[in-house]
Amino acid sequence: MAVKQIKRKKSPSLGMGSHIPAWKQRKLLEEAQQLKNFPKMMLGLRDTYPWQEAVLGALNEKHSKVALKAANGSGKTSMVAASAVIWHMLRWPGSLVVCTAGVYRQVADALWPHLRKMINGLGGEENGFSIKDGEIRYVYPKKVDGQELISRCIGFSASNPEKAEGWHVQGPSNDLMYIVDEAKAVPDGIFQSMERCQPTRTLLMSSPGGSSGYFYDVFRRNDGKWSTFTVTAYDCPHIRKEWIDEQMARWGEGHPLVRSMIYAEFMEDDGSLTAVKTADWQKVVSGPPKEETDGHRLTAGCDFSAGGDESVMVVRHGNTVKGLIRWRDKDTMASVGRFIAEFRKWKLKAEDIYADVGGMGVVMCDALRAEGWDVRRVNFGERAIRDDQFVNRAAEMWIEFGRMVEEGKVNLGPVGTDEVLLQQFVSRKVRTNGKGKLTLEGKDELRARGINSPDRADAMVLAFCGGGGKRMDEYMKALGEDGRSLLERMEDELGAIEPEGVALAGCEVGG
Ligand SMILES: Nc1ncnc2c1ncn2[C@@H]1O[C@H](COP(=O)(O)OP(=O)(O)O)[C@@H](O)[C@H]1O
Ligand SMILES: [Mg+2]
Repeated sequence: MAVKQIKRKKSPSLGMGSHIPAWKQRKLLEEAQQLKNFPKMMLGLRDTYPWQEAVLGALNEKHSKVALKAANGSGKTSMVAASAVIWHMLRWPGSLVVCTAGVYRQVADALWPHLRKMINGLGGEENGFSIKDGEIRYVYPKKVDGQELISRCIGFSASNPEKAEGWHVQGPSNDLMYIVDEAKAVPDGIFQSMERCQPTRTLLMSSPGGSSGYFYDVFRRNDGKWSTFTVTAYDCPHIRKEWIDEQMARWGEGHPLVRSMIYAEFMEDDGSLTAVKTADWQKVVSGPPKEETDGHRLTAGCDFSAGGDESVMVVRHGNTVKGLIRWRDKDTMASVGRFIAEFRKWKLKAEDIYADVGGMGVVMCDALRAEGWDVRRVNFGERAIRDDQFVNRAAEMWIEFGRMVEEGKVNLGPVGTDEVLLQQFVSRKVRTNGKGKLTLEGKDELRARGINSPDRADAMVLAFCGGGGKRMDEYMKALGEDGRSLLERMEDELGAIEPEGVALAGCEVGG
């Protein structure tokens, strides 16, 4: 039997070869136009996760409002935001995308490089793209009604709030997409500007922070106006299980950092979080761990007083507190003499002494050095070692110490019954700033609540967690090290402008 030859109609070119029937080409084109398929079909990113497709699928719809809270490093910026931007520019010729982010330079340093990479993959300038700082253009290859259509993507940092305002839908399809990355650190005013622009698509993304602000409210109100998504670290196969386990082991499963970083939950600030918990303290007092002093050098933490406060020195050997010495001195120089006498009495070496160099501490450290005691300088107000988690060194050291107590690793010795010491630890609140970093209640706030400066607790955390403290020369070198201005550091640290000044209030400078 003769097979009837079917003559294929020549299909419009999709660059796919003419063996694909026209109806299928149309279907493919339709599929490729869907945002959820875009990374796979147009950008060659094969392994998009189901949640990434779901988020993009929701954003595909005109007038969609999509909010995504997700674990750190889940692919919000590189996959979701970047794909959405390119899709919007290509799909809606002449349209506009506006992008901002709460973390200083996040747009320029995170989103833009991803966009650049994708655009290069699409042929870059040869295919109509041009990239500048803060603006990307795409010229549609065909004129429409004799007019050239240019899609644009604008990026700005939330520290330039005036740029949030005054954008309009554009192009024949009247489209404006607004993307806010790290939304937890974006001041509410920017969201109000965003709303006034009446975007046709809105995407807010963030790892969750504290329980306040616009982004938090979107999830809390859950009023049906937003499509909301929550993505944990377990939904992201590229996030290593060992890393997750390590965080769990370090902080405990219930720790606010773990709840936010891994489970993508907001940190509920009920005001009761403290670095050290009374119950944990009492547990190590009634059942202290075995003294472990072998192979350890005697170490001290010093908190200097200003005008009538206590001068405190805590001495520890290995895991065990050997002494808490305190006195009051009106005269600074007398205090220097007393510290040196104590250093000698305990046979301490300067390199094993950690001292607070904030405020008054500079003078004291310099005076000690002049007497031959170049102690290690620790500034409570300085950048934390793990600065993705803590606003400053003070919060880092206090919380680290609290964790050691919780795990029963500290033998407090007789000092365990010092009520004042315990009170100092448990009356200072820990909270989250807008970016979800942990911070301590400021000393001025404590004072306002009638609570004295927690000098004994400060000396204690210095003795146990002062590691990283630097001798004079190193310290001075480190100060100028990263060559950024104070303002840049602050913006990095605190997000552009903190909602309600939460972080600023908690970020003490000096001690
Ligand atoms: N679907 C995926 N498959 C593999 N790796 C991914 C995927 N999505 C994201 N990643 C990787 O995750 C990492 C973190 O992405 P990023 O966008 O910076 O995270 P976030 O913005 O959520 O903090 C990137 O290195 C990226 O390559
Ligand atoms: Mg990101």
